[in-house]
Amino acid sequence: INWNYSLFYEVDAMKRICIKGGKKLYGEIDVQGAKNSSLPILSAALICESPCVIHNCPDITDVNAAVKILEYLGCGVKREGNTLTVDPRGFKCREVPDALMREMRSSIIFLGAVTAKCGCAFLSLPGGCELGPRPIDIHLSSLRKMGLEIEESHGRLDCFCKDTLLGCEIDLPFPSVGATENIMLAAVRARGNTVIRNAAREPEISDLAQFLNSCGARVFGAGESTVEVEGVKSLSGCEHVVIPDRIAAATYMSAVGACGGKIILNNIEPTHLYSTFPFFEQAGGTIKIKDRSVECEFKNRPKALSTVRTGVYPGFPTDAQPTLMAMTVMGEGTTVFVENIFENRFRQVDELVRLGARIRVQGRVAVVDGVERLTGAAVEAADLRGGAAIAVAGLCADGETSVGHVDYINRGYENFVNNLSRLGADIKTVEGKK
Ligand code: UD1
Repeated sequence: INWNYSLFYEVDAMKRICIKGGKKLYGEIDVQGAKNSSLPILSAALICESPCVIHNCPDITDVNAAVKILEYLGCGVKREGNTLTVDPRGFKCREVPDALMREMRSSIIFLGAVTAKCGCAFLSLPGGCELGPRPIDIHLSSLRKMGLEIEESHGRLDCFCKDTLLGCEIDLPFPSVGATENIMLAAVRARGNTVIRNAAREPEISDLAQFLNSCGARVFGAGESTVEVEGVKSLSGCEHVVIPDRIAAATYMSAVGACGGKIILNNIEPTHLYSTFPFFEQAGGTIKIKDRSVECEFKNRPKALSTVRTGVYPGFPTDAQPTLMAMTVMGEGTTVFVENIFENRFRQVDELVRLGARIRVQGRVAVVDGVERLTGAAVEAADLRGGAAIAVAGLCADGETSVGHVDYINRGYENFVNNLSRLGADIKTVEGKK
């Protein structure tokens, strides 16, 4: 186990983001590649027989955790800027140790890939996470249906398959993103055809399918609710460009909504953001889309939004809910948020309240009464998107806000502080716990 990696988190956990609020945002930035595409694609690379070159992979700690897992399993990984080259030819190990599994919540995505590669896998259970219990029952029951024997004991998953994984028909009880990906990964080299019904339709699923097909897989219908996979004998490496990160884009749009100003986001895929644009427009923003860029301008304090309900794609993404909420806290009027995906997705609320926000939460519903002014304070990130949300609120609060637990933000955002600083925010990272 490479312990240096855990150390990296600890170093980040010692840093704080310091913001002097009140600056409007102007300028343009490039949006990073998608975290949620990079992770399954990196795990897919290990199934191949030859190297893969993956461009637009963000330099974030979740991606680096996936790299560490690949290296532990025997793959060679080289990073040059945002390009990762994964050489799976040294693959030798079927076991991912506990410490590495825990570094990243989504490490369960290696289950499908490792079993596709060698018919067995030994992983520790990913455990709970900040957003709630995060069960993996759908992943496990689906892979069992494909012939994988899975023993769950002592916090471990020991998975074997007698001969080879078998294609089958799977009806998902919920269109889980991770389960759809794990089944696709397992199915690409299974014997026969696999049909996934009620599959997740997120753009990251289509990106994974495109990557797999470039490697010689036969995946059809990704992005629709029925995905079919014809098993093939082997996959060979390919070159692939990861799609833009729609959640990072929504975060920067929320920031300009909160602060006012005019920003241009380059390297986006507008169609992936269609469920978010109407809320920014309702808030009074002007959105201009040109090819793969969007210009977002806010002249006034954001207006209240009609109820924001998170949902599976093409619904409003749960990952964009915390930062959109941060935009509304200093808005006019009342906005209601209904969180339909995760149980524990309002962890930003207590810290937003510390900054002066007026928010009431009951179960899955949060009601934000806009206030005229927020006041800077020391606040702590409690999860990735919640951390970004309190930073967004800090950008429009009076005085100084310092955000702790930067390690959460660095899991998913590349150059978060630099990007906001380039847009004119008074923001920097400082050492020290408080
Ligand atoms: C992925 C994203 C995450 C995003 C989420 C929903 C990655 C790496 N992460 O997470 O950023 O917020 O999709 O868009 O892509 N569930 C079960 N049993 C299961 C699997 C899921 O009950 O076996 C439940 C979860 O607890 C949750 C809901 O289904 O309440 C959604 O989970 P899922 O779609 O699987 O999300 P992830 O793949 O974990």
